Amino acid sequence: MMPVTASAPGKIILFGEHAVVYGQPALAVPLHGLTAKAQVEPTPAGSGLVIEALDINTRLLLANADHPLVVAAQLTLDTLGVDEPDALLTLHSTSPIASGLGSGAAVSAALARALSEYLGQPLATEELSALVYEIEKLHHGTPSGIDNTVICYGKPVYFVRGRKPDIFHTDEPFHLLIGDTGRPGSTKQTVGAVRVGWQQDPAAYQALFEQVGSLVQKARTAIENGQVAKLGPLMIENQRLLQRMGVSSPELNTLICAAVEAGAPGAKLSGGGGGGNMIALVNPDDVGTISRALYDAGAANVIHTTVS
Ligand code: PMV
Repeated sequence: MMPVTASAPGKIILFGEHAVVYGQPALAVPLHGLTAKAQVEPTPAGSGLVIEALDINTRLLLANADHPLVVAAQLTLDTLGVDEPDALLTLHSTSPIASGLGSGAAVSAALARALSEYLGQPLATEELSALVYEIEKLHHGTPSGIDNTVICYGKPVYFVRGRKPDIFHTDEPFHLLIGDTGRPGSTKQTVGAVRVGWQQDPAAYQALFEQVGSLVQKARTAIENGQVAKLGPLMIENQRLLQRMGVSSPELNTLICAAVEAGAPGAKLSGGGGGGNMIALVNPDDVGTISRALYDAGAANVIHTTVS
């Protein structure tokens, strides 16, 4: 058998995180600069499947059945209805873990994609996304499905839970800076905290979710019509609603304020919150100034990306 390599991008949620768990739409885009890569190569008969995750210095066999990477491999084999091959599956990701950039889902997607191609039965995008969704459930209980969708399709998506993803188009490219607080955020924890809030005061939370949903619609229209200037105020409004849900953090707030003070037309947390990453909309000429402001305010890392 021939060695096979496959990859999957990271992702960033532009608008609508958390409310998307409750049926509201959200917008997310792939991050092709942050990819997970998987390679599968044949090994001598009897060696079984060995998984080597280079970034976490981990070597696994299918017997390590509880490990999420093994679950991903086993689920791929079960979906295809094939036995364990004799092969070495090597994984490498350029995306930081637990920061809201989708590194976990990207690694699962690259793994399943490479393994299914190696076995001569490449999974269709929809099947791949469903498989990665199963693995996402192990990590954070009640995921909406947005991460696996944007990562497996590799395109900007307007996502509504339970519906076929809608690919959206950008009329005019726009620039974002992604600032890492350096503090991992636990999506499971923040999703759980929002659930508790919603159970205690369903009407108030429902109103917040609906306000998020309505600004997601406005953001989509603005992006599709090339009205990038409209996005800044929508990001600020989305951040205000996320703060009211209680999922921002002092570090996120500091970076968001620093970006806005340095001239970003809009900024918000992205993903689960509680830590992890924020995003700032930037004019191309201000990338350097706002990057520096983010580092000065304590960002552990800043990435510049273009959404097109
Ligand atoms: O933390 P991330 O980037 O995996 O994003 C989570 C997004 C939430 O809306 C908070 C949860 C979900 O499952 O959609």
